[in-house]
Amino acid sequence: MAARPSWRSALRRMDAAGSGFRFRCYATPVIQVERVDPATSVAKALRRKYGPSSWDGQVPWERGSMIVPQMAEGDVEKFVETELDSFVPMQPRPLSMQEVLDMLDPARIAKFLHVEVPVRFAERIRWIRDIQDWQQIPELVEVEAAHMQVFRDLRMVQRKPTLDAFTAVVERALQRQQPVRLKVALAMHRLNTEKEGFDSDFIDPWLDDFLLNCIGTEMLMSQYLACVNMDPAANKPRGLAGIIDPDCDVAQICRETAMHVQEITEEHTGRCPLIQVEVFQDRAVPRFSYIPGFLRFIMTEVLKNSCRATAEVAKSDRDVQKRPINVIVCADDHEVAIRVCDRARGIPFGVGQTVWSYLYTTAGRNKATYAEKATSLAGYGIGLPLSRLYARYLGGSLNLVSLPGYGTSVDLFLRRVNANQVEIVPDNDA
Ligand SMILES: Nc1ncnc2c1ncn2[C@@H]1O[C@H](COP(=O)(O)OP(=O)(O)O)[C@@H](O)[C@H]1O
Ligand SMILES: [Mg+2]
Repeated sequence: MAARPSWRSALRRMDAAGSGFRFRCYATPVIQVERVDPATSVAKALRRKYGPSSWDGQVPWERGSMIVPQMAEGDVEKFVETELDSFVPMQPRPLSMQEVLDMLDPARIAKFLHVEVPVRFAERIRWIRDIQDWQQIPELVEVEAAHMQVFRDLRMVQRKPTLDAFTAVVERALQRQQPVRLKVALAMHRLNTEKEGFDSDFIDPWLDDFLLNCIGTEMLMSQYLACVNMDPAANKPRGLAGIIDPDCDVAQICRETAMHVQEITEEHTGRCPLIQVEVFQDRAVPRFSYIPGFLRFIMTEVLKNSCRATAEVAKSDRDVQKRPINVIVCADDHEVAIRVCDRARGIPFGVGQTVWSYLYTTAGRNKATYAEKATSLAGYGIGLPLSRLYARYLGGSLNLVSLPGYGTSVDLFLRRVNANQVEIVPDNDA
């Protein structure tokens, strides 16, 4: 396998500061949410993989407490910049799912988030500021400003006497994070076309790290809000643990997503491809413990690609019906596998691994800029690589095989969320 290019080394070549980043993957035995002592097994596994660190052996909600000094309005900006400098060197603290499950009490998870989210935002702010002349890219300026706002809000908010103010800040931070993924993709397209030296060797690993970091904070903040809003009486029977659904109905999610994507495709192309969802399992419909929002995101992106390709390749509405898209869902006790096959003539051999680049898209070929090309159906180029990040974040995988002239097959493998699993975060010790 080819070595993952380091955007950091590209940065160094461009005389900017930095160090290497790469993914860490934990292969863990699969067990149904069993109790693990965080101070022993998970900590040991983390130590084995990451080496000793400042948070070694510490349960996450004891990591630190945030005391915000009282200050005059004019001093806030200076305080926030100084705070940013002190947060940048702090490493993210990857969580095991057991730890996520142990933090269902809002006060506990709030205490952890109050340090961890600013650490991860500070990391992303530094990555933006490390890019030479980043102020000349309007989308990067917007993304940096949105990040600074969240960092400032989180540093200035108190968790006492109630969690209300903190919850409002987390809600706003999640809202602000929504448009960031597309904005940052547009920024990278602009950087690639308008500046020298920003090719896919720089942009792809940079966006992998940035977006993986976004997925982690999004998960933590959504988990907190789910815990705050959890109605214990209503949720207990299903054992919902925040955003993790221990009884996630994979086939139903695939069916719902298929209908949604058919609507988007019809809206943009005037054609409505056929999608058939088939379920294969010995005993029952595949249900497993997972984060449904992640599965929905991945399936939406993969199906949008198949639907768009089918609608574009078909010569008539009858031809569309002759090219059904098949979704095959199967599972065993440990994993769920989903295959999406279409008959939309595939991707040319020459494209190869480029299909996973954030810079690769064939949508809106006649449009002048990427901003004009992009619609809710296609054009940002981030559907495949970002879906692969979502799959990897919880230890799964996403692969694509194209038979040029015939069609494309995408295989998604997802592991049951289990207690020992540790989220994957960009790691700066490479
Ligand atoms: N099922 C498919 N059939 C044909 N081409 C595909 C398929 N999936 C992906 N592609 C190609 O890969 C490109 C990148 O896909 P993606 O990352 O989702 O970005 P986008 O859809 O925004 O272009 C698409 O523009 C298309 O050319
Ligand atoms: Mg797409």
